[in-house]
Amino acid sequence: MKVTVLGLGHMGSALAGRLLETGHEVTVWNRTPGKAEPLVRQAAGEAASPEEAVEGAEVVFTLLTNDAAVKAVALEGNVAGMLPEGAILVDMSTVSPDTSREIGAAAPDGRFVDAPILGGPEPFRAGQATLLLGGDREMIQRHTSLWEDLSSGHYYAGPNGSATTLKLLSNSMLVGGTQLLMEAVATGQAHGFSNDVLREVFGGSPAVAPGVRVRLDDILGGDHKGWWTLLLADKDMSLVLELAKQVDLMLPIAGASEKLIRRSIDAGYGEQDLGSMTEVLREKVSNSV
Ligand SMILES: NC(=O)c1ccc[n+]([C@@H]2O[C@H](COP(=O)([O-])OP(=O)(O)OC[C@H]3O[C@@H](n4cnc5c(N)ncnc54)[C@H](OP(=O)(O)O)[C@@H]3O)[C@@H](O)[C@H]2O)c1
Repeated sequence: MKVTVLGLGHMGSALAGRLLETGHEVTVWNRTPGKAEPLVRQAAGEAASPEEAVEGAEVVFTLLTNDAAVKAVALEGNVAGMLPEGAILVDMSTVSPDTSREIGAAAPDGRFVDAPILGGPEPFRAGQATLLLGGDREMIQRHTSLWEDLSSGHYYAGPNGSATTLKLLSNSMLVGGTQLLMEAVATGQAHGFSNDVLREVFGGSPAVAPGVRVRLDDILGGDHKGWWTLLLADKDMSLVLELAKQVDLMLPIAGASEKLIRRSIDAGYGEQDLGSMTEVLREKVSNSV
């Protein structure tokens, strides 16, 4: 298919790479120039603007930081309005369900799918992530082969906004589970257990989910370059708490998760991976979190 990817961060680059590997004709655009080079070497076309990138596309993907970025491109930049006849717009960013619904309403004939990803850049690039899909069921079914190219499994969540809702709730469990692992590691290390012992015990423990276990080595070793920044996790936890507020629920664990994230951002770890919160625990400031 003729596809366009708008946004070449960690995830957008992985998406474009996966689309090229699965035989699609790919055009890419990124706000800041210079990120397309590796993809252009693999035969992607680079457009100078979203308008140019969208021309002639059958599927247009956005994979951008947050609500403001997605709205800037899809609504203020009018990508939703300039979709070629019959083309669909697919937003894979993790954003508020309200934003998904707003874009769905702006896209001609409702040709919009919210398609957030369960998985980081590496599994996504390898086709091993899971996709949640929100939008018109029949339109989504017509694109089954595309979802199959991009994932090891896809799930129809319901109308626009339902996929982004489920994605946020899933991220809440991921953040909380990762924080519990960090607490266990920091406490275990402080009690004199070696990294080898902690790796073996926690790495094999059924209490540590697979999506949490992928960070075990980085948490043990203090390498926090990673792939998912605390600033992105902070955005997600705010959206989770907003979802709870809308239905008059209180989420004490999600609230505590957000506080530890904020504390870590204040300590200068915003651009580092989720695992960097371990350093804040080690700095013994956690009693005030
Ligand atoms: N990283 C993960 O593990 C992961 C996993 C699943 C889902 N997600 C979600 O996927 C989305 C992207 O994450 P990422 O890790 O790829 O982030 P990232 O590496 O920080 O990339 C963000 C992208 O958004 C672009 N952007 C930001 N503001 C923009 C604006 N106003 N107009 C146009 N482009 C704008 C950036 O362009 P510039 O280069 O010009 O700044 C960049 O291409 C987020 O919603 C995130 O929550 C991330």
